[in-house]
Amino acid sequence: MNSEIEEKHEQIVALDVPSSREAAEAVRRIGDAVSFYKVGLELFVADGPETLRMLRGEGKRIFLDLKLHDIPRTVARATESCMRFGVDLLTIHAQGSSAMIAAAAEAVRQAGAGTRILAVTLLTSLDASDLSALGVTRSVEEQVFELGRLAVGSGAHGLVCSPREAAALRAALGPSPLLVTPGVRPAGADVGDQKRVSTPYDAILAGASHVVVGRPVMCAPDPRAAALAIRAEIERAEAALMSRQQ
Ligand code: C5P
Repeated sequence: MNSEIEEKHEQIVALDVPSSREAAEAVRRIGDAVSFYKVGLELFVADGPETLRMLRGEGKRIFLDLKLHDIPRTVARATESCMRFGVDLLTIHAQGSSAMIAAAAEAVRQAGAGTRILAVTLLTSLDASDLSALGVTRSVEEQVFELGRLAVGSGAHGLVCSPREAAALRAALGPSPLLVTPGVRPAGADVGDQKRVSTPYDAILAGASHVVVGRPVMCAPDPRAAALAIRAEIERAEAALMSRQQ
């Protein structure tokens, strides 16, 4: 892994709350321990623009997880709308195909914006029987790999993936694409409904550039302390990567 990737290791906290009021409370409580937040569909549909303005006002970076999937023109125009809020990371579905991914990437390029397009390959809620019902004959692993290659080859700046997929994708795609991994739990934490989790340390060592953490921070008795502990774990992983290189 090169220095470009080392500079990108980040913790992103998922603001999985139903209103901008609760989001603002969480952001203020966590303070300077976290600089990057994910806004998903629940919060965006309820209070999207207000929440994004609040995050910008607090000087935070924004991962807008809308998983866009539509005709290329519509996705390009939705991407333009997102850029007006200063969104840093935006998700689209790789299954929208090459033209749709390229349209989103081109909208960013034309705007000269810092927004980075992340493709979602296959939702982790889908398994082999779902693929079969959709007429997909590839295995889950092959489908993730092929959609990942298609997305990056079409202009996506990175992928959302399971930490368990990160090492293979990093080996296949090289050092440049962002690899953003949810499904992360500090050692000993409650896994909730996540089935295949990794620690932040292991995710970074596997090649993740960003780890997304929701409940281990948001539901902690002291969210700020929980976020700082995860940050320390990421720093330990960075030190291990550095010593591997020497
Ligand atoms: O609370 P938890 O850490 O499980 O939250 C993870 C966040 O990442 C949630 O917002 C969830 O929707 C999102 N996510 C995920 N798995 C995926 C894609 C997104 O957990 N495959």
